[in-house]
Amino acid sequence: MTPPYRSEIRLRLDDPAAQRDVIALGYRREGIARGAGPDREDLVVWARLADDPEGPSPRALPDLPGGELTDGVIRVRPVRSEDLDGWYELRSLPEVVATSVPPVAPPRAEVERLFAYAESRWLAGEAAAMSIVDARSGSFAGQIALYYFQPHHREGMLGYGVLPAFRGRGYARRAVELVTKWAFTEARLQRVVAGTAVGNIASQKALQAAGFEVEARQLGMLPAPDGGRIDSVLYVRRRP
Ligand SMILES: CC(C)(COP(=O)(O)OP(=O)(O)OC[C@H]1O[C@@H](n2cnc3c(N)ncnc32)[C@H](O)[C@@H]1OP(=O)(O)O)[C@@H](O)C(=O)NCCC(=O)NCCS
Repeated sequence: MTPPYRSEIRLRLDDPAAQRDVIALGYRREGIARGAGPDREDLVVWARLADDPEGPSPRALPDLPGGELTDGVIRVRPVRSEDLDGWYELRSLPEVVATSVPPVAPPRAEVERLFAYAESRWLAGEAAAMSIVDARSGSFAGQIALYYFQPHHREGMLGYGVLPAFRGRGYARRAVELVTKWAFTEARLQRVVAGTAVGNIASQKALQAAGFEVEARQLGMLPAPDGGRIDSVLYVRRRP
């Protein structure tokens, strides 16, 4: 009997180990089957065709080499459940809410879901969500993510925030430098961009210190907490 031309597997979004197994077998991610699980949870659809190439399927966002990036002062690594309280605290701060899209404080359950699905999104090549850790104390200091919305252009977008107790020490600049270097060398991106609200001087200085330059002013790009719109200054760094 001839084997079937198409083999399909549906997996839970919070089961990255199973997704790594099917990636190793050459399955490709096709999308999300909404509410398809037994408890009406979303499932990820993976499939392999008989004439797909042998070996693991390609990943747009590889794992961090050795599991983390470090410059000796900070460590940047994928989010872990122990970071959840710090993440929730950070995402609830008014100045962080004001720079979030949409500009609303996420309920705790949303942050928990974000953590549960973070590795799935990384494996999907959609986003790499990482925590910034103070290397000396091991404390959670902030958050940085690389969103890969434009894979065809090989352009990624950064988002980040640092807890007030760790601000002004260069942690944002260091995290931006580490992640941008990884994006160019390991993920082979050509452009890394970051949009900052016009008045967000701290973020703009951190980007400039990390070698980014202003590319454009995006009119009314960002939704404001009061329902209005704010201009964004778009920064870019190109692959050397
Ligand atoms: C923006 C933010 C991430 C900066 O974090 P940080 O770790 O304090 O930044 P750094 O220490 O790397 O500072 C970078 C530069 O900004 C300067 N800076 C820091 N805070 C500043 C402030 N409030 N006003 C003006 N400049 C400031 C620093 O002096 C430094 O400049 P230098 O390189 O010339 O010395 C942090 O303030 C934050 O989390 N803000 C709220 C969320 C946010 O705005 N996220 C970014 C969205 S685009």
